[in-house]
Amino acid sequence: MSSANPAAAPDAVLVVDFGAQYAQLIARRVREARVYSEIVPSTMPVAEMLAKNPKAIILSGGPSSVYEEGAPQLDREIFEAGVPVFGMCYGFQLMATALGGTVDNTGAREYGRTPLHVSRTSSTLFEGTPAEQPVWMSHGDACSAAPEGFTVTASTDVVPVAAFENDAKKLYGVQYHPEVMHSTHGQQILEHFLYRGAGLRPDWTTGNVIEEQIEAIRAQVGEKRAICGLSGGVDSAVAAALVQKAIGSQLTCVYVDHGLMRKGETEQVEKDFVAATGVKLKVVDAQERFLKALAGVSDPEEKRKIIGREFIRVFEQAQAEIVAEAPDDHPVEFLVQGTLYPDVVESGGGTGTANIKSHHNVGGLPEDLEFQLIEPLRKLFKDEVRMVGAELGLPEEIVQRQPFPGPGLGIRIVGEVTKERLDLLREADAIAREELTAAGLDRDIWQCPVVLLADVRSVGVQGDGRTYGHPIVLRPVSSEDAMTADWTRMPYDVLAKISTRITNEVKDVNRVVLDVTSKPPGTIEWE
Ligand code: XMP
Repeated sequence: MSSANPAAAPDAVLVVDFGAQYAQLIARRVREARVYSEIVPSTMPVAEMLAKNPKAIILSGGPSSVYEEGAPQLDREIFEAGVPVFGMCYGFQLMATALGGTVDNTGAREYGRTPLHVSRTSSTLFEGTPAEQPVWMSHGDACSAAPEGFTVTASTDVVPVAAFENDAKKLYGVQYHPEVMHSTHGQQILEHFLYRGAGLRPDWTTGNVIEEQIEAIRAQVGEKRAICGLSGGVDSAVAAALVQKAIGSQLTCVYVDHGLMRKGETEQVEKDFVAATGVKLKVVDAQERFLKALAGVSDPEEKRKIIGREFIRVFEQAQAEIVAEAPDDHPVEFLVQGTLYPDVVESGGGTGTANIKSHHNVGGLPEDLEFQLIEPLRKLFKDEVRMVGAELGLPEEIVQRQPFPGPGLGIRIVGEVTKERLDLLREADAIAREELTAAGLDRDIWQCPVVLLADVRSVGVQGDGRTYGHPIVLRPVSSEDAMTADWTRMPYDVLAKISTRITNEVKDVNRVVLDVTSKPPGTIEWE
């Protein structure tokens, strides 16, 4: 599969990634300030960074010490190009050492929440913020002398130089992590850098993205045709809606109903999504086929493989039918994918070509499909995708929907997948979702898998009789990106309501349990 990057990047703020998880968060925070940002690896030559005409550069934190052998370095040319630069944590120390300041490995460590003493509350970065503010620290080395021409603006009990500025050269730095929530004025300081230090305006919106992408997609596709696999998830739905807006009936969406969807999802795609977008949709009812292929299989990996394989077969068949139905029409050369920016960054540092993850929504399409990719969301974070979806008029239930795995309920039944078990789990899941929504918890919870322990039976008592039913597990988690997660401390009364309703309303379930495991060690899904 060849990949295509439809839109030329607008002049961006570059976030130089020094190897920890901070760069993505910084890039998101910059965009929250309505300035477009992109991540580049620290191994990119400075000349290449500058050739991108960045409006400003942010140097992220990283796990290394500037004095460690092999620690990432940066050509000092970056500070002499007239581009505003903001160094954070490791980036701050690199800036300090590159420009002649002193960073010592004194053993003066600070980790976690630390009080920052701001000596210049009228400085470019700190104006309007308190003289004493909590910040998030994570460092071993400490800056003891700022480079010449810099003003020291803050310190901590341990670090004499915790922030500095050089307005004439537009160079700024802080020892801490302004991007994390625990630095309570962090966003304000970042915005001061962007607006006051670098003179940028908060004018980037997801609306710009839509316009830009529509133009780029039209230029890319021309008269030809495209197809898109809809999974019912947010990413493929928004990608499809955007491409539909650009090329209308040249796009056909394929929705494979594998019978592993949650209650109401197929109808949502068939009715609400089509009504909102006017998209041409081909629904393939493949429930029997999937059930047959899954019969007798309990091993999770085996299930995933079967579901992936069947999905591809059905999709290819649908593609052949689309061509056969209008053989004289322009060829179907493009495949729309809802790849997001974190996928792009994780699979190649943010600058490389697309790399389809096996975890992808549609279950991982094969590499040898002969398509060019249209990936209109490959510059966006999940919350931005939701904004684009809302702007395109997609229904709230689709735009705000929780992430749902490609193999669907197939990997939420511990044991063999059968029609009866799927129906049972669908009911339990629908009740949990309904009550979470009613309690207003949708935005607090990243996702809440509901799992059927089909291979387990437990004793219960219902009415006058003894029962021997299955447990249902609730797995509510809070997360920013699904890489790590914690179990959500949900109100007991909501849990109680879900439990009562499930045991009353769902046949063969006599027990509801709560999963109180973080990730790691537990994954979000049970299989
Ligand atoms: P885990 O269970 O690995 O899940 O903690 C992380 C996130 O990925 C989702 N997930 C999948 N998504 N195909 C998908 O499209 C899959 O095979 C798959 N497995 C897990 C999961 O729901 C969570 O959001």
